[in-house]
Amino acid sequence: MSSNRPSPPQHVAIIMDGNGRWAKARGLPRLRGHQVGAESVRAILLACRKVGVKYLTLYAFSSENWVRPRPEVTGLMSLLRKFLREQAEELHRHKVRLRVIGRMRDLPLPVRRELHRVIEETAHYTDGHLVLALSYGGRQEITDAVKAIAAKVKAGDLDPRRITEATIAQHLYLPDVPDPDFMIRTSGELRISNFLLWQLSYAELYVTPVMWPDFREPQFLEALEAYHARHRRFGDIK
Ligand code: IPE
Ligand code: IPE
Ligand code: MG
Repeated sequence: MSSNRPSPPQHVAIIMDGNGRWAKARGLPRLRGHQVGAESVRAILLACRKVGVKYLTLYAFSSENWVRPRPEVTGLMSLLRKFLREQAEELHRHKVRLRVIGRMRDLPLPVRRELHRVIEETAHYTDGHLVLALSYGGRQEITDAVKAIAAKVKAGDLDPRRITEATIAQHLYLPDVPDPDFMIRTSGELRISNFLLWQLSYAELYVTPVMWPDFREPQFLEALEAYHARHRRFGDIK
């Protein structure tokens, strides 16, 4: 990275949306959109290493996406397996640690196995962090945190008067990952769709009409430029 470039956001979170519409516009099956979208994942992961974004969180499958037609869900799950098998090498090359947020137990066993394998193999890397949100819901994450906190209170290990924002943050899925500085959503939708509800509190938001399969390094760099033009105030007047 050249020294006159502003420092990149430490953590970028992306709602990878628009695969289906991208395919439909081309008269292709939706799954084809997901396949080409997997190429975008690779491109953005590499771009993050290149520009020095340390944490990348990708919304790959929401807790709500289970209601989609079965062939699409199965197709997405086998694509995920394929992606893990093919991209593991890339993660090693760039010393990127893979982690997952979401209810991993909901995923089919072969996918879980593949995930556990890559998670374990990359656990010692610290250069970059790839977080995949799978069967993830922001409300579920907060609900799971509340349950864990309630259990500690019940066991007498935690005094409710001592519960602070930090207590809640510490009980989220990955408490050591810093909050995203920048959240990108592709395909033009102006909503959060249950993504990182707690963590996005002060993230800069960026929505592009570009569909996820077309979102590659140039589009990512354009988004980062928009980020650099932002003025984060965190409630202050400066
Ligand atoms: C995003 O693309 C991928 C997932 C949600 C798994 P979509 O599949 O939501 O594509 P659209 O929104 O229907 O175009
Ligand atoms: C959000 O996209 C979830 C993922 C990108 C994995 P959706 O396509 O599911 O969101 P909605 O349904 O348009 O809100
Ligand atoms: Mg969508």
